[in-house]
Amino acid sequence: MARPRVLSGIQPTADSFHLGNYLGAVRQWVTLQETHDAFYCVVDLHAITVATEPAALRRRSRVAAAQLFAAGLDPERATVFVQSHVREHTELAWILICQTGMGEAARMTQFKDKSAKFGEQAASVGLFTYPILQAADILIYQANSVPVGADQKQHLELTRDLGQRFNHRFGDTFTIPEPYILKEVEKITDLQDPSAKMSKSSSSPAGILDVLEQPGPLRKKVMRAVTDTGSEVLFDEENKPGISNLLRIQSALTGTAIPDLVARYEGQGYGTFKKEVAEAVVETFTPIRERTEKLLADEVELDRLLAIGAERARVVARHTMAEVRDRVGFLPSL
Ligand code: TRP
Repeated sequence: MARPRVLSGIQPTADSFHLGNYLGAVRQWVTLQETHDAFYCVVDLHAITVATEPAALRRRSRVAAAQLFAAGLDPERATVFVQSHVREHTELAWILICQTGMGEAARMTQFKDKSAKFGEQAASVGLFTYPILQAADILIYQANSVPVGADQKQHLELTRDLGQRFNHRFGDTFTIPEPYILKEVEKITDLQDPSAKMSKSSSSPAGILDVLEQPGPLRKKVMRAVTDTGSEVLFDEENKPGISNLLRIQSALTGTAIPDLVARYEGQGYGTFKKEVAEAVVETFTPIRERTEKLLADEVELDRLLAIGAERARVVARHTMAEVRDRVGFLPSL
């Protein structure tokens, strides 16, 4: 029997993934390639919904792709590609845009949050239609499930609604995907502000651990992470959010359950604990950084891997689009 298909995407909007991206998405994507027919894309079309320098976009798209391979995605097994390489995404997005109500799109909370940042009138129409392009990314591959953070739940609901609507109006065409909500994403918090999610757009540099960062700065940031009053290493989200965040990180990186960590650090104070958290981070990130650097030093090879992914993705996307065009009533183009 065919393996169920997963599809997910990550934006090339930073010069490195951070720990939240790694634990919340990338690491789980790697695990899913074992059991699923996995499609993962670097969503550069989504990145341009806000003004982006071409040189930065090019660099960040390669950096994102290189980190995905470096983190363990195997080009033989997983289909890793750049969204803009598969032109059918934009074509399907247009057709789905025409099935979406203005009010329906206007309810998307991420658009409201993001557009509030520049002032609603300054936001692009592309930012408004962002979730519909995301729906196209998913539906075009007939994905069964979509691993995403909890913040993407509403976009997944829209995707399901649009898929079902299309199927009703035009006949069964799309698989309706299930969300596969990755819990850790929301839980890795800013090292300097444990009440906020670790995030490229809102955390200060001192609050973020970047995958491609050198060991020195990584250690320094962990050692300087905001801790709480008292001196015991205890898991207590309410009174010790900083220590709890570090415990979650340590547990996720070492595979040791939190109660076992708490027992291990009993009577030792914060210093020893933080040192070991820092080591776990450095040990995880260093090999990924080294492999990423190697891939980035050989652009020809990296671009070749992406071409393989794009070709595999295109085969599926073309197949879906041929059916979609016909169902919508477009004439065959001979
Ligand atoms: N909007 C997603 C995010 O910010 C990124 C994304 C784009 C995506 N297309 C996708 C995620 C398709 C899952 C499936 O995280």
